[in-house]
Amino acid sequence: MNQFDVIIRGGIVVTATDTFRADVGIRHGKIMTVANILTDGTKIIDASGLLVMPGGIDSHVHLAQPSFDGPAMADGFESGTRSAVAGGNTTVLPFALQPRGASLRSSVVNYHKEADGQSYCDYGFHLIVTDPTPSVLSQELPALVEDGYTSFKVFMTYDDLVLNDRQLLEVFSSARDCKALVMVHCEGYDAIRFMTERLEAVGKTAPYYHAVSRPESVEREATHRAISHAELTDVPIMIVHVSGREPMEQIRWAQNRGMKIYGETCPQYIALTSEDLKGLNMDETGGKYVCSPPPREKESWEAVWSGIKTGVFQTFSSDHCPFFYEGVGGKLNDKARTSFRWVPNGIPGVETRLPILYSRGVAEGRITVNEFVALTSTNHAKIYGLYPEKGSIAPGFDADIVLWDPNRKETISQRLMHHGADYTPYEGQQVTGWPVMTLLRGKIVAEEGKIVGSKSDGRFLKRRLSPYAMPGSNR
Ligand code: URP
Ligand code: ZN
Ligand code: ZN
Ligand code: ZN
Repeated sequence: MNQFDVIIRGGIVVTATDTFRADVGIRHGKIMTVANILTDGTKIIDASGLLVMPGGIDSHVHLAQPSFDGPAMADGFESGTRSAVAGGNTTVLPFALQPRGASLRSSVVNYHKEADGQSYCDYGFHLIVTDPTPSVLSQELPALVEDGYTSFKVFMTYDDLVLNDRQLLEVFSSARDCKALVMVHCEGYDAIRFMTERLEAVGKTAPYYHAVSRPESVEREATHRAISHAELTDVPIMIVHVSGREPMEQIRWAQNRGMKIYGETCPQYIALTSEDLKGLNMDETGGKYVCSPPPREKESWEAVWSGIKTGVFQTFSSDHCPFFYEGVGGKLNDKARTSFRWVPNGIPGVETRLPILYSRGVAEGRITVNEFVALTSTNHAKIYGLYPEKGSIAPGFDADIVLWDPNRKETISQRLMHHGADYTPYEGQQVTGWPVMTLLRGKIVAEEGKIVGSKSDGRFLKRRLSPYAMPGSNR
């Protein structure tokens, strides 16, 4: 019998800290040895000329999420995780959403029915808390955290999801008690409603006005408010999908005061602009780019880069939240034509996250390849309780690996995508750097744009408590 099931030979291994030439020996789904030269493998994969990096962990994706009065999402677990592995990812963390009035536990049970047996990559769940009743806070949350759902998201906007300040404080305080990490969607609900009604009253209903209705000041205010609540309750929080300079500076300010406030940003904030929402001459094609927070002006890209380069942001996630553009229920539906208010919020991006960050970041010289690995994999594993099984290449880690061609030039196109949506908002963007093979626990699941794994490959990940959620430094 051979010593290794698989040997990845001759590549350049990249971790969050090191870059070196080595072979990787895999046995029973785990990395067993990382060494100069390995022989004695049942299968040898030639990685010469390629980078050997930890598989992407996308800690912010939406799959099969129920919508209330809007169209259904374009991806369930099957197509969403197919897209994920094609894009070099091996783990996704989507959200089990609690509809108001429902128990959290039943929401989790229902979400497992969507996911189990339907996933090409490994997955864990965050929770979305929309109805923080006393029993949810004191009984359900602690029990679910115990069961490995160790992070949850709360919203400061959206009719069906928004929590008021009192509720946010209650959730933060419960998170502190059960040592869970809270992710916060920071945009001010009342300000957005005020702006939306004002714009609609003067006929400004095109998709572009989505961006006008929720400018950076609205995000900045909510970010500051969330940070203040985190101070009051002395609990670490993660501010998700940060779009530009103003909210980024709030996080930097809190971090400079020694607070445990973490930040996440996304491809849309370095590769799309609010001009994209104008479509062709303010027509509905701008609806393809409607997401929240919206992409900002092009100048804001450099501010986001400054946050990436100086460590304000620990994670770079996709916020993959796909809807169809054409067709029944799509972004271009009849109701959405009447106002931006009804255009479903969210864009696809799980498959293009790594190429966009690699290309604009590493290939263009803004970040190192080690920072790339930290931002796309290692930090997600550490922050969300998946370390040390996931997120690096060293003995004992799961053999979740992407083989990456750093020189390959591609033009992003819907033709290349594996998601359920009928468009990519990055159509036509040129990138340097592309995944050529994805291995999940030692098994090849995607190769040269072809899916070779199966939807029963992915496993549910019961997550540990996040070491980043330990309270005690925010007050
Ligand atoms: O527009 C977006 N990002 N939709 C997804 C939901 C969210 O707030 O993350
Ligand atoms: Zn074996
Ligand atoms: Zn959000
Ligand atoms: Zn999201």
